[in-house]
Amino acid sequence: MQRDRIDRLRQEHILPEEELYLLLSNYDEADQTYLAALADEVRREQYGTGVVPRGLIEISNICKNNCRYCGIRKGNSHTDRYRLSEEDIFYCLKKGYHLGFRSFVFQGGEDGYYSDEKLVPLIEHIRREYPDCAITLSLGERSKESYRRLFMAGADRYLLRHETAVQSHYERLHPQEMSFDNRIRCLYDLKEIGYQVGSGFMVGSPGQKIEYLVRDLLFLKELEPHMIGIGPFIPHQDTEYRGKPAGSLSMTLVLVSVLRLMHPEVLLPATTALGTLCEEGQILGVLAGANVLMPNLSPDIAKKNYMLYDNKKNTGLEAAEGIDKLNQELKRYGYHLDFSRGDYKKWSKNAV
Ligand code: 5AD
Repeated sequence: MQRDRIDRLRQEHILPEEELYLLLSNYDEADQTYLAALADEVRREQYGTGVVPRGLIEISNICKNNCRYCGIRKGNSHTDRYRLSEEDIFYCLKKGYHLGFRSFVFQGGEDGYYSDEKLVPLIEHIRREYPDCAITLSLGERSKESYRRLFMAGADRYLLRHETAVQSHYERLHPQEMSFDNRIRCLYDLKEIGYQVGSGFMVGSPGQKIEYLVRDLLFLKELEPHMIGIGPFIPHQDTEYRGKPAGSLSMTLVLVSVLRLMHPEVLLPATTALGTLCEEGQILGVLAGANVLMPNLSPDIAKKNYMLYDNKKNTGLEAAEGIDKLNQELKRYGYHLDFSRGDYKKWSKNAV
């Protein structure tokens, strides 16, 4: 029964809502294996066996938001706040470039310090020094004008997860000041400007139901992002969700495979949260259809304090210093690191 459904998903890249629901609500181990095999096949057709590393630089853990699930939420007074200096950032870039990285992600909380006046020259500087590298920003919600200025300064891509496509659930996970509509507005603005856009959601966030995951899948089908990041929810001790169960490994892997079948060309990372949930999580993600990894290039102060959730991994395969080990590990499974910019296939940077 599920095989037929999975075959149709591979053929048509979409299923009716009820069928997606049935697929997610009662798959067994054989279905999961079958899904992963088809997803792997599709990924090989599109991208071969290369896995693109994106070097993650966590530039600030200062955030004006109070997302209920997040360890760096403004209301958490148990974390030491930091903001990397420009010198720190260039040190990370240099280290990454020498390791072979040609794609970098600058991620941070919504830190008011980073006005356009601060960011534009910083991005221009990075663009000048590293003309052959992809610059991805992940700095939260901003105005369309701001996104446009950062794009013109040289940013290529922007990551902003929608977190959940169900408004009532979004409102449960976020404080009143945050708006679902604005989140969605940001994503469409980013696409319109010409960024390669990444979105995504957490699997197993408190209160999430299977029908919400179906809505996430349908929303992503509508948005058609170039990158999709999903990972299990993992509780953080200094949030009200401490003690809540983490998202499930198998559901996350099933969704990675389903997303590969729905979006054959998408850039799909095996996330750090997946690697935190389980030692082999990231390799399992690749086996399930993921083709991007995001090793952490941040300095120790960031690794210690950019704790979005408890025990966030920073010494294993996701540490940039372990890049050779990561490559060896991938090779054991028939993959290898692809040190390119890792652009979306059909993408070209048009001026706005
Ligand atoms: N568990 C898992 N993922 C989380 N994120 C934030 N907090 C958590 C958590 N407790 C994710 C969000 C955010 C991304 C940067 O990290 O989805 O978009």
